[in-house]
Amino acid sequence: MESPRQSDASSPVEPCSPICVDTPATQSSVLFDGNLDDLLRNFPLHQYILVTGGLGFIGSHTTLELLKAGYNVIVIDNLSNSFQSVFDRINLLAQKHHEEQGTQMPALHLDAHDYRDTAALKALLEQYQIQSRWGSPKSNIAGVIHFAAYKAVEESIRNPLKYYANNVSGLVDFATTLGEYGIKTFIFSSSATVYGTLATSGLPLKEELCAHKDEVFQGVDGLDQTVKAGCTGITNPYGRTKWMCEAILADLAASDPEWTIVALRYFNPIGCDESGLLGEDPRQTPTNLLPVVVKVMTGEYMELQMFGTDWETEDGTAVRDFIHVTDLARGHIAALDAANAENLVENFRAFNLGTGRGHSVMEVVDTMESVSSKRIPTRAAPRRPGDVGSCVAVATRSQQELHWKTEKTLRDACGSLCKFLEVGSLSFP
Ligand code: NAD
Ligand code: WQD
Repeated sequence: MESPRQSDASSPVEPCSPICVDTPATQSSVLFDGNLDDLLRNFPLHQYILVTGGLGFIGSHTTLELLKAGYNVIVIDNLSNSFQSVFDRINLLAQKHHEEQGTQMPALHLDAHDYRDTAALKALLEQYQIQSRWGSPKSNIAGVIHFAAYKAVEESIRNPLKYYANNVSGLVDFATTLGEYGIKTFIFSSSATVYGTLATSGLPLKEELCAHKDEVFQGVDGLDQTVKAGCTGITNPYGRTKWMCEAILADLAASDPEWTIVALRYFNPIGCDESGLLGEDPRQTPTNLLPVVVKVMTGEYMELQMFGTDWETEDGTAVRDFIHVTDLARGHIAALDAANAENLVENFRAFNLGTGRGHSVMEVVDTMESVSSKRIPTRAAPRRPGDVGSCVAVATRSQQELHWKTEKTLRDACGSLCKFLEVGSLSFP
């Protein structure tokens, strides 16, 4: 797709270009030029959050929530699995929110390139660098949320090097460059897939079960349990890329206390913004449950194949911890706030982002039928290779340490998808 490499949403807050000076005098003149209410409501006006993959399914919702919360955002996305028009929709929704609230719209910029393009990345980071004659480099970019990655499990089995190159090698170079510019607050998109077959071991899926150093925690019997660092049973190369990235980031944090790194292990993100204007609209053919259900609802697919009706679950279909994408997006803000407030237990910390409650594939279909008043034809099909019967988070660590919990239900998610079908075209361009 042809697109301008850099797009700016109109905003009263311009990037510090080309260089900002970190003297108290400059900061105070920036601060007191504005209205005090705005100042208190907003994240420091001169600071930005860099979001890679910010036009994708989860990235677009997180960018919107960041803007609503008053953060200035720079998005890097190469549009390999998203569309430029998502940028306009995020901007529209954020503008509308701030108009309604009577608050100031933060800045939003898009750099449409590969996050692995180090020359383009450096050119971008130069613009936000704070010139300092002494000490380590500083930046007006106060944190990075890194979504950009490939995520199709089946493709990762066929073409593992594509996945290791983008998800793992890309991360190594990216973190190296960020470090050179003094940007060391990093939120990483991990996945429940790192638990692999542990999901069906009968053990509650606590973060300690899959860790990068030996962990001692209280087991279900109330006794201390020691788990050795490492993870076994990951079922595909995509899952391994997520585990490897976590391990690399844990090593980086251990080597340099200036880094604060959070790995967020998402369970099954579903739904979309309540406006219906953002959604899950990948260029690749979707294989996840809800996007397939949506295609059945639009008539694009005849029926939903239910992969596995003989699992050891109440109705025989697989159980997952479905989390509304808006809740998930807000989890990133909670993580960012905790990281920047230095409120984390250690400078590399992994968190499950899930509801802590499971729903079966059949329950999803029933709920969608009830919300949409449409019949969704289904057909029992054999288990999909690599699937597990049940995968549900223990969500207490994120509740206690990030002060975040989910608010939306499976019904809310189905309702938002119906709205997406109504108002947001399924094809974005
Ligand atoms: P997505 O494909 O919708 O979004 C990823 C975005 O990154 C896309 O807009 C794509 O164009 C962009 N991108 C990919 N490679 C890039 C590169 N090299 N440079 C610049 N941009 C690039 O995926 P998503 O569902 O939003 O997932 C976001 C992240 O969350 C991924 O890291 C994924 O592995 C992780 N995750 C997703 C799920 C899920 O079920 N959706 C679950 C757990 C973890
Ligand atoms: C859920 C359930 C399917 C489609 C995947 C990745 C995981 C993470 C989230 C990124 C399963 C069943 C599905 C269909 C069906 N992604 N299903 N018919 O497999 O739990 O997790 O996405 O990190 O890594 O593996 O999610 O939505 O694909 O499937 O019956 O047409 O729905 O078999 O039991 P999954 P899913």
